[in-house]
Amino acid sequence: MNTDLFEIIRTTRSMRRLKPDPVPPALIRQILEAGTSAANGGNMQTWRFLVIRDPAIKQKAAAFYRRAWHEIVGPNYAKGAPAPGASRDKFDRMLAAAEHLADHLHEAPVWIVPCLQGGTHTRTSGSSIYPAVQNMLLTARALGLGATLTTLYLLFEKDAEAALGLPDGAHSYAIIPLGYPLGKFGPVARTALEDVVFADRWGDKWSGE
Ligand SMILES: Cc1cc2nc3c(=O)[nH]c(=O)nc-3n(C[C@H](O)[C@H](O)[C@H](O)COP(=O)(O)O)c2cc1C
Repeated sequence: MNTDLFEIIRTTRSMRRLKPDPVPPALIRQILEAGTSAANGGNMQTWRFLVIRDPAIKQKAAAFYRRAWHEIVGPNYAKGAPAPGASRDKFDRMLAAAEHLADHLHEAPVWIVPCLQGGTHTRTSGSSIYPAVQNMLLTARALGLGATLTTLYLLFEKDAEAALGLPDGAHSYAIIPLGYPLGKFGPVARTALEDVVFADRWGDKWSGE
């Protein structure tokens, strides 16, 4: 287990290639406890977390993810520009990993599906679940487990949520496939702060001073 928070933050990459080996329930519990430690609006805790290990449910829901990737998202990424700061080659490797996940999502031993129960489902409501999601991603990394925040199945939201068995009024905000990673954790690739941080006025670069 890694307990250096800053190291964990720097190396929590999307781990899209996973081993099928089961994940011990004690580790799943630790990840869920990290999730439910997160900030959430008014501490109302309208979050619900569906832990899915049933292969039949994963198969059914993963079909919508796969369709979204192959019919819409994959082709759009392939013909678009690489992510900021990434070479074409590096971006293509990311797309290959994303395609691998699309084709093998159902094989991840565990999914955690973070949901909100009731209310409206807007940017504001999302703010009450994504802190929990990030806590879970960081905790998975600390425990040596790979994970990816995925949302592209939401292109077929209604069908996918029916496959997940969500009741009326509950909505999912991600599918997080979890498992022991095939590859190595590594530093995340991001552009420099100077490219994205402004000081006082939009467009005025922050100097760091
Ligand atoms: C809101 C959100 C949705 C995402 N959805 C997907 C997804 O559906 N499939 C996927 O493979 N990655 C997904 N990602 C992961 C991003 O592609 C990834 O974080 C980004 O490429 C940076 O790579 P890194 O996490 O390895 O540093 C998502 C990330 C976020 C924040």
